Amino acid sequence: MVTMSCANCSDPLEISYHQETLNKSKIPMPFKSNDSTVSIGEGRTPIVSLSTIGKYLGRNHVFGTLEYLNPTGSFKDRGTAVMLNVAAEFGTREIVEDSSGNAGASVAAYASKHSMKAHIFVPDSAPAAKLQQIIAYGAEVHPIGGHRQNTTTAAIKFCKDQNIVYTSHNLSPYFLEGTKTYAYEIVARNKQIPDHIVFPVGNGSLLIGAWIGFSELAKFGSLKKIPKLHCVQPQAVMPIVAKYRGETWDPGDAKHTIAGGISVTHPPRYKRILDIINESNGTAVAVNDPNILEWRTKLAHLEGIYAEPTSAAAFAGLEQLVHTETIKENETVLIPITGFGLKDAAL
Ligand SMILES: Cc1ncc(COP(=O)(O)O)c(C=O)c1O
Repeated sequence: MVTMSCANCSDPLEISYHQETLNKSKIPMPFKSNDSTVSIGEGRTPIVSLSTIGKYLGRNHVFGTLEYLNPTGSFKDRGTAVMLNVAAEFGTREIVEDSSGNAGASVAAYASKHSMKAHIFVPDSAPAAKLQQIIAYGAEVHPIGGHRQNTTTAAIKFCKDQNIVYTSHNLSPYFLEGTKTYAYEIVARNKQIPDHIVFPVGNGSLLIGAWIGFSELAKFGSLKKIPKLHCVQPQAVMPIVAKYRGETWDPGDAKHTIAGGISVTHPPRYKRILDIINESNGTAVAVNDPNILEWRTKLAHLEGIYAEPTSAAAFAGLEQLVHTETIKENETVLIPITGFGLKDAAL
């Protein structure tokens, strides 16, 4: 099994490019683009004004990126597209992934397009719509009982036993190369770079990817300012928020949350996430389930947007950041709306 962690410090790996590559590529990628490169139309999601929510919060420039318009209904497709193009280039024919549901659906879809066999390990409590979606793409589903962490443990054991590639999107450096397109697109489209971006964070793939993208663009010399990147977690599972506040948090204290996509007790890249929050002058806040449900309803009532509870968590976080004046009246804030509401009824 190929390791995806540093042999010395055990931290997960990331890709870096020579300045020369950065200078000559529009967006540097870790695979050779050719006739067999697969896309199902990921990325280039619309950015819309959320002016009614802005008015409600007393903020003049609130925007959302409709990440749920990606092919499988979540932002994960950005990362999966790159991760599986690299896997295909290596000649991989069979893969194993573990997921709370959305990454599993995404990997299942892109695997089918690559004619790869996919084993998707999911918690047996994953929403039915996500499970059905994974099955529809033709992947083999392995439902695992207990907390989300058990699913990861079972997937790793299966890979070792069967000698199959573990493509874990949470460890893969290639997945982050896909999520970095989020930042490239923001810069390409906006004359004004947002002051703040608020992310729902479990393993942090979109937050880290965005930071990588902005940092590469800053290295080109074209980008002068990187937005403040804020992390939102559920109070029920808040390892990063606790570390950010300098508090201890025991994974054994984890409780159930309706924000299943960010119910992650052991994020392998937590140090990187904390560094990014601090370097970008962002913050980390925790929100409770009633807040999340309230914001899921508000998004639908005020803006006509039906999002997953996990995605609504970012708006509950936004409200806190407004109340603490972390986000000021005339600053611009962008929120990726990461997953489609039909995937998780959560009622
Ligand atoms: C809809 C949705 N939003 C956000 C996230 C969080 O992504 P990450 O774990 O990479 O922080 C997930 C993860 O599953 C998700 O499904």
